Amino acid sequence: MGLEGKHILLGITGSIAAYKAASLVRLLVKEGAELKVVMTPLAKQFITPLTMATLAKNPVLVDFFDPENGSWNSHVSLGLWADLYLIAPATANTVAKMSRGIADNLLLTTYLSSRCPVWIAPAMDMDMYAHPATAENLEILRARGNRVIEPVSGELASGLEGQGRMEEPERIAEEVKAFFEKKNARLHNSPLRGKRILVTAGPTHEKIDPVRFIGNYSSGKMGYALAGVLAGRGAQVTLVSGPVSLPLPHPEVKRIMVTSASEMHQACITCFPDMDMAVMAAAVADFTPVSSSEEKIKREGRKESLFTLSLQSTTDIAADLGAGKKPHQILAGFALETDHEEQNAIQKMIRKKLNFIVLNSLRDPGAGFQHDTNRITLIDSKGEIRKFELKRKEEVAEDIADKLATYC
Ligand code: CTP
Repeated sequence: MGLEGKHILLGITGSIAAYKAASLVRLLVKEGAELKVVMTPLAKQFITPLTMATLAKNPVLVDFFDPENGSWNSHVSLGLWADLYLIAPATANTVAKMSRGIADNLLLTTYLSSRCPVWIAPAMDMDMYAHPATAENLEILRARGNRVIEPVSGELASGLEGQGRMEEPERIAEEVKAFFEKKNARLHNSPLRGKRILVTAGPTHEKIDPVRFIGNYSSGKMGYALAGVLAGRGAQVTLVSGPVSLPLPHPEVKRIMVTSASEMHQACITCFPDMDMAVMAAAVADFTPVSSSEEKIKREGRKESLFTLSLQSTTDIAADLGAGKKPHQILAGFALETDHEEQNAIQKMIRKKLNFIVLNSLRDPGAGFQHDTNRITLIDSKGEIRKFELKRKEEVAEDIADKLATYC
């Protein structure tokens, strides 16, 4: 029973492979998973909701609301309930709609509002699968952090032979089990349990006057995801956050909100002596105005059209912590680079006395600020360099947490 207590949402679309969804549900339920099934209207032509509801032990959802009593099938609560949203089989039509954000059925609205990992198992004729439009749509979905379970080659419904058959339910169920087993092992056998870890996140705002500041595009998502994952593994996390409007990533995280680089510096040096580890994920401003005005700076009355703002360097928080860190303390930082990425990141790691650095390149599509995904390279002070694929920031956070765990 490897899937005890796991909530799996299965989305079924209108493909002949829909019959395989029945065995998939049976296998997942046998492993202890709780199943909910959402079907597109066309999927009902291939397999009945009654069959699926009986196997899943839960009513199957197809419509936005129940025409009998008007009760609403909330796609938002379905999306939040799920630990994994598995769309199997996924037709070329649904894949295309997912990639473009079309929301004309419950399966698709649930996709748009889900926060959990999404896996897609395509099933279609080989020429449809090989078509550049389908390939491009799947690539878009991959780039957004969804996982595509490649279809296999074999005889297709059309009678032709080629790649397009949905992967066998046994194989998909094994992959689901392996995914959750890995997640459970990370949670329960975590060497990070009880470790005190400081994480910085978000941008800083450097005040110019009461209505203006110098900021940057950091969304804080990477640092928040990391704080959430570390707390989930039992670490005592202190999150020093710049101005973002993200919710607390985990109920156990202690969050300190700051605005400027100097406030972030103050908060970090105050708590760092008690920490076992620190990960500096914030995009701290490198420069701040020498002085800020208490009144709004007016355009009128200025003789020249040129306006000069004098800036001074802020303290490099990571370097400051690095200079004072005790031998048992582990310090990690981020490097967001646009050129000579590895070389710059290594220099940064050495300069700031970091144990390792997480490199992302702004040249990678889907990586860096504002995105929900990231592609990182981990470089450590012993010379190990490890490149990762493009993933959702929550999964990137797991990889960084794994790296931190190697120092325990
Ligand atoms: N950092 C910090 N305090 C600063 C500037 C950066 O703690 N005042 C940290 C970041 O949180 C990150 C690492 O240092 O972990 C690298 O940040 P980055 O802005 O890439 O490095 P800089 O040293 O500012 O170098 P540059 O902007 O010139 O590339």
